[in-house]
Amino acid sequence: MSPFSLSDKKVYIDVAMMLATLAAGYYSLMTVMDHMGEGKQRRTLQAKGNQIMQKLGRPEVQLDEYEAQLASEIIHPEDITVNFSDIGGLEPIVSSLRETIIFPLLYPNLFTSSSALTGAPKGVLLYGPPGCGKTMLARALAKESGATFVNVKISNLTNKWFGESNKLVAGVFSLAQKCQPSIIFIDEIDAFLRTRSSMDHEVTGMMKAEFMTLWDGLLSASDRILVLGATNRPDDIDAAIIRRMPKRFAVPMPNLEQREAILRIMLKDTVLAPNFPAKALAMQTEGLSGSDLKEICRNAAMVPVREYMREHGGDPAIMAKARTEGYTMRPLTINDFLIGNADTIIDTSQLVVDRSRIDTIENLD
Ligand SMILES: Nc1ncnc2c1ncn2[C@@H]1O[C@H](COP(=O)(O)OP(=O)(O)OP(=O)(O)O)[C@@H](O)[C@H]1O
Ligand SMILES: [Mg+2]
Repeated sequence: MSPFSLSDKKVYIDVAMMLATLAAGYYSLMTVMDHMGEGKQRRTLQAKGNQIMQKLGRPEVQLDEYEAQLASEIIHPEDITVNFSDIGGLEPIVSSLRETIIFPLLYPNLFTSSSALTGAPKGVLLYGPPGCGKTMLARALAKESGATFVNVKISNLTNKWFGESNKLVAGVFSLAQKCQPSIIFIDEIDAFLRTRSSMDHEVTGMMKAEFMTLWDGLLSASDRILVLGATNRPDDIDAAIIRRMPKRFAVPMPNLEQREAILRIMLKDTVLAPNFPAKALAMQTEGLSGSDLKEICRNAAMVPVREYMREHGGDPAIMAKARTEGYTMRPLTINDFLIGNADTIIDTSQLVVDRSRIDTIENLD
């Protein structure tokens, strides 16, 4: 005979039913709240997107939810402090960028009226060793081109939901299309569009394929959109992507003249000793990149500051006066750049520049 009576069983069934109903109610409520949360998030994004469009002077542009999500990646020229004149020694690249990117994007009629072959390229690649000004060039281009500059960050394209990443990739292109003329900029493009392999995650593979298809769509359309990539590892980029970037600019390590130009730009707001030998300094810094040169200038500029602190740091009255009224720094001399004076002057012998990468890609042209 069963230890439970019939009425006991009924009670257990009722309790189980009640728990099941409660659980179902709880999950339904959570789902509704989730949707409400998502709806609110979407509305906030949309409002933010509209605000960005307003700031760009395009209040008429209506964004969908994916485009609104990406609108914050548009860089407003006002927010960029770099101009072409701040870039040293790259004048030929700058004028080439003007001729091949800016003019065809801004004045398409001038370029397409004579022949279909004279339009803007749909893909441009800046490549070269680290710290030589690729990102800087792209930022100056954003400032001076007058085109909408969409700075694509891969982290913003990845979404936990299957299929959403692809929609975000499509959003990049449709956003660029709505705001044209526009430049889609992908810094460190090798990280996103590297050579495809069987080890790729399925979503990554799909994103790359979607990107290439949409990019191909640009080739036939008369849209004024181009994809600009920058990389210091051109060999890692998928061959199919390289093909879509027919215009390639090498941004190599600076030569003597370029180093002198960079040093002059970097030291332009610093008081220098009379007859400061910028050329001699440029000769001493062979093998250094633009970013290394910035570092040695910073270290040298610190020498007079440190001297001042050593001399007066212990005197609260002088320091208080310096804080409120500022102080006159002694002019910078070449000695401030020498090892032992500057903190960590970069040892050129330790810099390895892999020229082979650059040569291979130059040969492609
Ligand atoms: N030609 C240059 N003229 C003036 N400053 C330069 C130049 N090249 C580099 N610099 C300085 O070096 C810094 C780093 O440059 P940038 O970020 O453009 O290098 P990159 O080529 O993009 O390097 P990476 O490949 O590592 O991304 C710049 O912010 C700038 O201060
Ligand atoms: Mg860079």
